[in-house]
Formats: sequence, C-alpha cells, structure tokens
Amino acid sequence: RSADGALQARLEAVAGPVRIAGREATAYGYNGGVPGPTLRLRPGDRLQIRLVNRLDAPTNLHVHGLHVSPEGNGDNIFVTVDPGESFDYDYRLPEDHPPGVFWYHPHHHGTVADQLFGGLYGAIVVEDPEELPVARERVLVVSDTSLDAAGRLRQPSTMERMMGREGELILVNGQVRPVLTARPGERERWRVVNACTSRYVRLRLDGQQLDLLGIDSGRYAEPRRVEEIVLATGNRADLLVTTAAGTSTLQALGVDRGGMGGMMGGSVSGDVGPLATLEVTGDEAAPAAPVPPSPRSRDLRGTEVTERRRLTFDMGMGGGMGGGMGPGGMTFTIDGREFDPDRIDQTVSVGTVEEWTITNTSPMDHPMHLHVWPMQIVAEGGRPVDDVRWQDVVNIPAGGEATVRVAFDDFSGRTVYHCHILDHEDNGMMGVIAAG
Ligand code: C2O
Ligand code: CU
Ligand code: CU
Repeated sequence: RSADGALQARLEAVAGPVRIAGREATAYGYNGGVPGPTLRLRPGDRLQIRLVNRLDAPTNLHVHGLHVSPEGNGDNIFVTVDPGESFDYDYRLPEDHPPGVFWYHPHHHGTVADQLFGGLYGAIVVEDPEELPVARERVLVVSDTSLDAAGRLRQPSTMERMMGREGELILVNGQVRPVLTARPGERERWRVVNACTSRYVRLRLDGQQLDLLGIDSGRYAEPRRVEEIVLATGNRADLLVTTAAGTSTLQALGVDRGGMGGMMGGSVSGDVGPLATLEVTGDEAAPAAPVPPSPRSRDLRGTEVTERRRLTFDMGMGGGMGGGMGPGGMTFTIDGREFDPDRIDQTVSVGTVEEWTITNTSPMDHPMHLHVWPMQIVAEGGRPVDDVRWQDVVNIPAGGEATVRVAFDDFSGRTVYHCHILDHEDNGMMGVIAAG
C-alpha cells in the first residue's frame, strides 16, 4: 500500500517461458505465473495497477465485475497498451461496493480469447465488511488451455473459434489436480473463478457439505445447500465447504451449452473429470461459530423501472454482402449488428433503473456480461426468480431468455456488454453502452 492507503500492484504481461501445470510452457502469464497474483481489496479502496506489456501484441486490462468508473484511467477497455508500453490504471471502489470474488484479464478486442487461453488472468477478492468464521479461505481459479508436446500454445481451429475454444488441459491455480488438505469438521470458504475462455463447468465435491453464499457478487438472503454448481465462463462461486473425513474429488462435469444447429455438429462443455482432490484427515476440529446473516443485498424487484429494453443475441451464416466476417463465414451479433467501437448501442441515464430482456435466438447458449453495473436476475424464461440474485454474467440459453434489472446509480462513460464466450466476443458479439 502507498502512503495514502492505495493498494498498488504491478502486472507484467509476459510471453515466453511460463510455469503451467508444473512445467515450462511457451504461453502467457502476469508476472511469469498462471494465474496472476490475487489482489485483495476492501470496499472504499483505491487500487492502482501498472500494466506493463511485454507481449508482442497489444493488450490492456479489465477488472471483471468491479463496480468502478469505466472512464479515463479507470476500467477503460478502449485503452490500447502497445508492446513495450505500460499504462497506469487507477480504480476507486465505492464505500458500498459489494463483497465477492472478481477477476482481471485483458480486453483488447480481437485477441481477448487468445490472451486468456494463453494464461492472462487473476483473481480479485473484495472482502466482507465482517469476516466469516472459517478455518481458511481458498481462491480456486479454474482455467483451460491447450499445449502441444513441446509446451507451445495450440492454435484453435475455425470450428473451435465458432463454438468457443475449450482446452484439453484444465487447471486449478495453474496446476493439474492439486491436492488440498483439511481436518474433519472445518469450515472453509472457497472462491471459485471460471476463467476458462469458453468452457462451462458443473462442479461437484461429493462427500462434503456445500453451502453457496452467492454467484458473482452479493449474497443470497441465506446460504443455499447445493450438490453442484454450474458456472458459465466468467462466473464465480462464493462457497462454504464443511469438511467430513475422507477423500473427495472436485469434479467438473459436462454442461450442454448447445451447438451450431443443424449439420454443423454439437458442442458441449464435456466432462473433464477430476479437477482437484480434497483430503480430509486428522482430529475433528472444534465446531465453527455460526455463519452470521448475510449483509442484505439490494432488491430491485419492487423498484420503479424507467426504461425497458430488449436485446437479441444471434448467430448467422454470413455469405451475403457485408456478412460472414467471422470464422467459417459465421456472424455473431447482438441486435443484428457486430461490434463497432465507434457506435453507441445503448444510451442510459445515470440515476435510473432499467429492465433488460435478453433473448437468444441461436442454437447455442451465450453468457451475457455487462461491465461496471451488476445485473439482478428477475426472470428466467419468463418465470420470476424467487431470490435476490446479482450476477455480472447471466447465461442466456439457446432459444431462451432472461430478464435483468440494472441500477445505473453512478458512473458515466462508455463501456461494453458482450457474450463471455470470448471467441464470440472477439468475433463481434459485443455492444457499447454509454451512461450519462
Ligand atoms: Cu470478463 Cu468484458 O469481460
Ligand atoms: Cu467484464
Ligand atoms: Cu456466445
């Protein structure tokens, strides 16, 4: 921390020998490792990051899920940091910033998928106002990549770029099947980040008690006892694990996220099997103190809505004039248009609450992500949601829809919303929002 209390970090994006899965790979990493360092913040904090670009391509930095200004040196994804250059980001978290686990990754349009798949990501924890009584906390960054026999990044095929590439190697904190240890009867807090470029994961930890505090940011009114958790790319889980003696496997099972439709073949995020092992041995721990009630999340369901919008995610075969710029002649659009940084697609007024209904007319799921302002899911497939659920990535199933409410309380400026299957985002499934 600097003298005035700002948290300072230096992130050097490097290409070249990086340690992945216990060996040297020719990939990318922040400060030479995968994932990059975990940044821990408190609401009200100021965070200053110097990003140094040692890649041979432009990059930049995005703080995914943080409620901070998108302007100037804030979470400005329109900044380009050329090779050899650096940029000083400066973020100020509001005093009432929601606690949770967030993350950072590059956002240079056109190469986001390549740079993430190569190893550029890290976690950000915004601490709770009051710490929970847990024996320990673990940050588990789940990611995937593909390396060839020589340890070089494998380039995706055209089909993989249409479907969203999924790596053959699935990592937890840059390792293959790490072993975690605990004593029986301990309560742990797990913060799980799905930092995969396109892969969805369905997580199970059979033999252990799982209580989900929330997804992305904010908390449910009560922790929810769960058997499994589905995370689309970009989602995070805030989870309590109460341990029982024995060895349990953290598994990532498949999620059917649809395909290209018709003759193009299917796509699922397949079973990847064991991600990590939890070994619980030794003396029973003293019972943990009860979990205090969650800080109450705001609920926009009873709020007056100023504006209602509809957004449509679609994919099409190009082939016509002006279409088909994407891989395999495919177009990835929102409201029929591909991303144009010079066009504003949605203009919102600061101080208003809006309701967005997001429809997916394609045969494949698209996880919709809005920068800066979290979304409260109020309906899925037309059915109202019965709990307070704040997320910043909301899966819109193939042929389905979801309705969210967003409070544009603060921050003006320009930023984006997009599909978090980052190959789709790079191929145009992104729009610009301007708040003023
Ligand atoms: Cu995680 Cu716009 O990104
Ligand atoms: Cu983001
Ligand atoms: Cu998509």
